[in-house]
Amino acid sequence: MSARGHAFGIDIGGSGVKGGAVDLATGELVHERIKIATPQPSTPQAVADAVAKLVAQADWDGPVGITLPSVILDGVARTAANIDKAWVGTDARKLFSDTLDGREVTVLNDADAAGLAEDRYGAAKDFAGLVLLLTFGTGIGSALLYHGTLVANSELGHLEVGGMETEHRAAASIKDRDGLSFEQWAAEVSTVLIGLENLFWPKVFVAGGGISRDADQWIPLLTNRTQVIPAHLRNTAGIVGAAMAIDAGIAP
Ligand code: BGC
Repeated sequence: MSARGHAFGIDIGGSGVKGGAVDLATGELVHERIKIATPQPSTPQAVADAVAKLVAQADWDGPVGITLPSVILDGVARTAANIDKAWVGTDARKLFSDTLDGREVTVLNDADAAGLAEDRYGAAKDFAGLVLLLTFGTGIGSALLYHGTLVANSELGHLEVGGMETEHRAAASIKDRDGLSFEQWAAEVSTVLIGLENLFWPKVFVAGGGISRDADQWIPLLTNRTQVIPAHLRNTAGIVGAAMAIDAGIAP
């Protein structure tokens, strides 16, 4: 099935392959989100097979937008964070399309997809100008949007701030690994945000990733100058952004 005004998005993460059809008028899923465990090892063909299973389960026969935790250029994965290293150099767009009977596919970075979704339907929908979304998870993902246009593959999780890559300083996984309190972790996040705001001067930061659910415990502790707001779409942002990308023909 594929319906007018609906597009299909799939978000590939370290633990789950999640997807669904999205109503592009509202940014909401039109049915329950479908989730399949990410195959281990998460090699390209194994993940593509999981994607095909998910699409079949949803009974969707139209084009599909898909995220990967990778830099994507012309459909090719150029990096692979938290997913099997065999992805580096893989033509992901071709692989997914071949596995889905030649249908149209677009592939984009996971944080870029979340940024598209939050910018249009979520936390940043009322902000004009530069929006910088950061996802705090195993690493730090980033999305830069200027008046709704995505500057793809920004990879600010790997920018050095204070002599350390931002994701090595302030990913949510660092809080868990080092047993940091919210106060201690928020100090590291502040260092990262101050470094980023001094370079990019965004109108607003959107904080995504699982830890954004606890936003009231750490956003008030931040000491940077730019407003920080928690993501609204939570665990559907990647799916919604992937659906937006295939609909709008965004193909980084
Ligand atoms: C990767 C990004 C990804 C982010 C979140 C980073 O380590 O380099 O491409 O968006 O993790 O998954």
